[in-house]
Amino acid sequence: MTKLILFLAVQIFLLIAVSSAGDDGEHFARTIDRKLLGLHKKEKLTHFKVYWHDILSGPNPSSIRIQPPVANSTTYFGGITMIDNALTSKVEMNSTLIGQAQGFYAGAAQKELGFFMAMNFAFKTGKYNGSTITILGRNRAMSEVREMPIIGGSGLFRFARGYVEARTKWLNFQNGDATVEYSCYVLHY
Ligand SMILES: *[C@@H]1O[C@H](CO)[C@@H](O)[C@H](O)[C@H]1NC(C)=O
Ligand SMILES: *[C@@H]1O[C@H](CO)[C@@H](O)[C@H](O)[C@H]1NC(C)=O
Ligand SMILES: *[C@@H]1O[C@H](CO)[C@@H](O)[C@H](O)[C@H]1NC(C)=O
Repeated sequence: MTKLILFLAVQIFLLIAVSSAGDDGEHFARTIDRKLLGLHKKEKLTHFKVYWHDILSGPNPSSIRIQPPVANSTTYFGGITMIDNALTSKVEMNSTLIGQAQGFYAGAAQKELGFFMAMNFAFKTGKYNGSTITILGRNRAMSEVREMPIIGGSGLFRFARGYVEARTKWLNFQNGDATVEYSCYVLHY
């Protein structure tokens, strides 16, 4: 009988100890083995070029202004444009569709044409179908080469980091339509 009471007391004590340890909010996170996510392997450096088609004109624009710039701004400062732009394998719009560039760009410079870019490249072809990379950076659109960071990714691009170089290949000054080459350098596992 005494043994049984002792046994039950120990059980109850352990139960309380375990449940209070789980509840104190200190132990919600733990370190795990990198191997569980394949992170013990060497990082790969992947390079690719895609062509980004910013189409503002016509009946089916992929790039739509949702917020006009502030009054009197000649540099689009304060303007916001949402995009769902086609990414293709070659500079021609009718070349193979690789994915979509989804996000927005906003006028972020008062004295020059400078955009804040925030977008995901959502890939649709081959082994990269369903994977994404996220680009967040400063785009001085009139410079020949604009470098922007790749700050992350998903799918095959989990833990991605890197940068892109953007070069305008074609620009229609009348309606603003443009095709920009994105040369992407991505470190990932
Ligand atoms: C815009 O320009 C007009 C005319 O020059 C001026 O009266 C007005 O104050 C300016 N607005 C802003 C927000 O600077
Ligand atoms: C793509 O468009 C160009 C004209 O812009 C045309 O010459 C070419 O034949 C087209 N290619 C395909 C595969 O449709
Ligand atoms: C990409 O994945 C989607 C969803 O899994 C699928 O419907 C589509 O057919 C795939 N496309 C290609 C080109 O493999």
